[in-house]
Amino acid sequence: MAEVRISSVTKKFGEVYAVNKFDAVIRDGEFVSILGPSGCGKTTMLRMIAGFEKATGGEIAIGDQIVSKAGNGIFVPPEKRHIGMVFQSYAVWPHMNVFDNVAYPLKIQKVPPEERKERTTKALALVHLEEYAARFPNQLSGGQQQRVALARALVAAPGLLLLDEPLSNLDAKLRESMRFEIKDLQKKLGLTVIYVTHDQAEAMAMSDRIIVMYKGVIQQVDVPTKIYEHPANSTVADFIGLVNFLDGEVKDGVVQLSQIGCSLPLAVNFTGPALVAVRPEHIEISKTSGTLRGKIVSKLYLGDSTDCRVAVGDTVLRIIDRGASFENYADGEEVYLTFGHVMAFPK
Ligand SMILES: Nc1ncnc2c1ncn2[C@@H]1O[C@H](COP(=O)(O)OP(=O)(O)O)[C@@H](O)[C@H]1O
Ligand SMILES: [Mg+2]
Repeated sequence: MAEVRISSVTKKFGEVYAVNKFDAVIRDGEFVSILGPSGCGKTTMLRMIAGFEKATGGEIAIGDQIVSKAGNGIFVPPEKRHIGMVFQSYAVWPHMNVFDNVAYPLKIQKVPPEERKERTTKALALVHLEEYAARFPNQLSGGQQQRVALARALVAAPGLLLLDEPLSNLDAKLRESMRFEIKDLQKKLGLTVIYVTHDQAEAMAMSDRIIVMYKGVIQQVDVPTKIYEHPANSTVADFIGLVNFLDGEVKDGVVQLSQIGCSLPLAVNFTGPALVAVRPEHIEISKTSGTLRGKIVSKLYLGDSTDCRVAVGDTVLRIIDRGASFENYADGEEVYLTFGHVMAFPK
């Protein structure tokens, strides 16, 4: 069992809270991402789970073992936590060939040479590097080096795999194909994965659930669709995907948007001032009908869609139009707009 239970974990560096009262249960076999902007505490949290960093407060359990309990003297060192970890920087050893890099954790564990060879070969096969065993890291591409790091993390057959921005140093195409490979490996091996990233598309694509962090504090824990469609607050709405923010006033099931001179029905559980958020793909443009008028300010061709700026009075809205062709609208043209999914947060 590699369930991970994190209770009220805090990490202070001097007076700065890098992580503040982090609470989460990651289930056995689950793929969970910790997502947030740079500096929000993701790496610090992951390093505390791995045992490379000591928590200032709180408790961490992996399976049925408490590995860290601040103030209680319980601290299990990394090598005894039975986890695999992959870093953004690969961290493969330049003076060792691929085989020796991957075999290293088994050597430390004093696994007999015969078995070491067998398990290393197996781990290399998992990441499709069988042919590269004799090469040195400087004879490999970035993607291949990252595979070495992945094989090394998996060779000791850990139940829990921790990944810290493992794909950020790769080019876009390779990054996308590696997403699938990591997902496949996770399923095949039944691993519990905690995946740290600042890339929301990556977190969306790979995770069973996402933990959104901001300034050391968890903002929301949920499945990707909920995070995207029902963000817990405006910070999450802003960080995940694109949004137009408008000032609003909620009363009797209606939100008044005075900035753009319209009101919309809206079911929320509060009244009063609101920050209203609408995603660019949730506003429809039409030549013939809609709830309000706007004027095309500019547009960008994105191949599968058109990225438009549309002015409504003094307010400029960003709209992603997937329906019509780029040539359909001219700059300065008057159009109709209709709002789809609208989100609102109390101010
Ligand atoms: N060893 C350290 N000493 C002091 N401050 C640190 C240390 N490590 C991280 N921090 C601070 O903790 C905060 C969170 O950092 P980090 O966990 O690396 O964020 P992320 O991985 O989300 O980019 C940042 O403000 C960072 O400067
Ligand atoms: Mg980091």
